[in-house]
Amino acid sequence: MAAGLPMRPARVGNNRTESEHGPNMIKKIPVSKLVPGMNVAKMRSAWKAVPHLYTTAGPIESAEQVQEILGQGYTEVFIEVEGPEHETDRPRPREDTAQGLAKAVAEAKRIYDLSLHTAKTILRNAKRGDRLDYETPKMVVENVINLATNSPDTLLLLLKLSQYDDYTYTHCVNVMSLAVVLGRQWGINDGDLERLGIAGLLHDIGKTRLPAMVLNKRGPLEPEEFEVIKRHPLDGYLLLSKQKCFPSDILTAVAEHHERHNGTGYPNGISGDSICMFAKILSLCDVYDALTSIRPYKGPVSPYEALRIMYGMRERHFKTKEMERFIKCLGVFPAGSLVRLNSGHYAVVCKTNSDDPLHPKVCVCMDKKMRPVMPTVTDLSTALTAGGERFSVVDSLNPLEHSLDLPSLLGLGHGFVLQGST
Ligand SMILES: [Fe+2]
Ligand SMILES: [Fe+2]
Repeated sequence: MAAGLPMRPARVGNNRTESEHGPNMIKKIPVSKLVPGMNVAKMRSAWKAVPHLYTTAGPIESAEQVQEILGQGYTEVFIEVEGPEHETDRPRPREDTAQGLAKAVAEAKRIYDLSLHTAKTILRNAKRGDRLDYETPKMVVENVINLATNSPDTLLLLLKLSQYDDYTYTHCVNVMSLAVVLGRQWGINDGDLERLGIAGLLHDIGKTRLPAMVLNKRGPLEPEEFEVIKRHPLDGYLLLSKQKCFPSDILTAVAEHHERHNGTGYPNGISGDSICMFAKILSLCDVYDALTSIRPYKGPVSPYEALRIMYGMRERHFKTKEMERFIKCLGVFPAGSLVRLNSGHYAVVCKTNSDDPLHPKVCVCMDKKMRPVMPTVTDLSTALTAGGERFSVVDSLNPLEHSLDLPSLLGLGHGFVLQGST
């Protein structure tokens, strides 16, 4: 502290602290927003008596550590913030450049990874028969709602770039994320959106009650095995209702997520608007994620192809109007789609364009011969080809069929495959 200045007491919130905390700022945040790399601030003894406040000073080293802190019942924490702004206060990275896009995806990935870790913890606890609480999924969903509100396309792009090796958990996080993006665009209010997201995260929790032999079977199921699988919506409903902390609309959504518009679904064969709105949203997101994910017995289809297949199910599995709203939300070429342009170049869709769905914003990453080029973000609605023509998408491709690693092509580096996630 400069000589001659009067000593002021330490302050908290977004203020600089000079007596106890040195030149750093400290800031109170929910424990759910802790991420590895943050430093828990040293607190005065008075603060240590606050029961919900985590006060063990030092660095946060892993997502597991955050989960442990959450598991111990702490909800808030003071962290050190270098300089006048912390990264969570800074303007979001602009996604108009490949570097900006890479930064935005990296931020989204941190939230996704934390959600994935929480999904594993919840499902493992459920499998052991441990008690589940409402707060843990709620905190995960809050983070994803923020992301879905500020940057829905980055979240959708991330879902398609990540090829993690454990479908059980990624599927829960993907369905939750898609449901929140969809719900936000359909004008669902914040309180309902939170419960929709929780229903998405927990929709398949009944599978923790199924025999692993049936659940993990590679290849087509025998009719009697399918009958076993069909138990999971009701098992999930029963498991969650026993906890006494989940509202009824979450329970109903879990029970009805395999019901179909024409009554051919299960467990009850209900139809049309007898199916609750949360369950209708979950079933769209569930089918879309299953189609676009790698499974032991099938490869993924491209997002464009998935929407084409699902559109063919309208009026049977999905109400036509709701299917069309789903496509409007994701775009004809959803974020993460690999497309070929009329210039011959290849690009990944990074932002859909609701005013002009056939001309999204893309990141051009390969030349006509599929050789990597410096990734460049291009707005197809305004940019022109070298020949002065308007850009257009002429084809949508499946990257796996061409053995392409999209994260590398986009300059996102490694880390999009989670090692050893079981
Ligand atoms: Fe399911
Ligand atoms: Fe599912």
